[in-house]
Amino acid sequence: MTTDHTLTAENLTIGYGDRVVIENLDLLVPPGRITAIVGANACGKSTLLRSMSRLLAPRAGHVLLDGREVHRMPAKELARTLGLLPQSPIAPEGITVADLVGRGRNPHQRILSRWSRQDDLAVAAALDATHTAELADRSVDELSGGQRQRVWIAMALAQQTEVLLLDEPTTFLDVSHQVEVLDLLTDLNADRGTTIVMVLHDLNMAARYADHLIALAAGSLHAAGDPATVLTEDCVRAVFGLDSQVIVDPVSGKPLMLPIGRHHVRDQAAEPRADQAAQS
Ligand SMILES: Nc1ncnc2c1ncn2[C@@H]1O[C@H](COP(=O)(O)OP(=O)(O)O)[C@@H](O)[C@H]1O
Ligand SMILES: [Mg+2]
Repeated sequence: MTTDHTLTAENLTIGYGDRVVIENLDLLVPPGRITAIVGANACGKSTLLRSMSRLLAPRAGHVLLDGREVHRMPAKELARTLGLLPQSPIAPEGITVADLVGRGRNPHQRILSRWSRQDDLAVAAALDATHTAELADRSVDELSGGQRQRVWIAMALAQQTEVLLLDEPTTFLDVSHQVEVLDLLTDLNADRGTTIVMVLHDLNMAARYADHLIALAAGSLHAAGDPATVLTEDCVRAVFGLDSQVIVDPVSGKPLMLPIGRHHVRDQAAEPRADQAAQS
């Protein structure tokens, strides 16, 4: 089983109607690693993920999976290698959790083939990993936002693809469930070598969990690379138009961004810094 799939965008231009959202983008997703995409609202993160997963055809350029153009691959074949959890997925009305998660197995089933024991195992493992097994018989409509989000993640896991794209997988989740989902994706990456690309809203979670950080600014690539080199005060200013202080996260050793707004900023000149106070 090879898990070092290469996913690249070459000279990619995408948009809707007359509007170009991303222009001439070149991108390389490191195989077998975790990549996080960050950027301001409406800069084109979801549009990029949709295009990388074949839902949106490029105006110009290509998205290549293992050197093949994804927009020319049959949907089912692509779906056995590459899975997408969209930002706002819509569940069929009245569907149960178990049935929705089971749909993740569709790409693996052939015409006339029966549901297999392997499908059962994949669904059970996905429910288990996302702590949604106790919801299996419930209707998806009646779940809380956080429960529903975990069920969608279970569906993506059940698909068992070697490349997994997730658009804001931690939306609606409280902080402990956010950490749980990101830890789970990290395990998946470590245990199976799954290549993971996720759009994350939270810069600090992105910097902590990603091996490779991509900062998008208004339709083009601002910076890409190791979070420690990408997440700087200049980057936050350029991408979000926000002043900030970037310090070393005492928990992870990764960069930690502290925003500077107009209020609640102490007068740092008036007080000695902790390191200076210790010396005097
Ligand atoms: N289906 C669509 N039709 C037309 N415009 C869209 C559509 N989806 C998104 N857009 C526009 O494309 C731009 C990028 O959107 P999106 O990729 O969703 O941003 P992000 O995920 O970074 O917040 C926005 O200006 C948005 O209004
Ligand atoms: Mg989005």
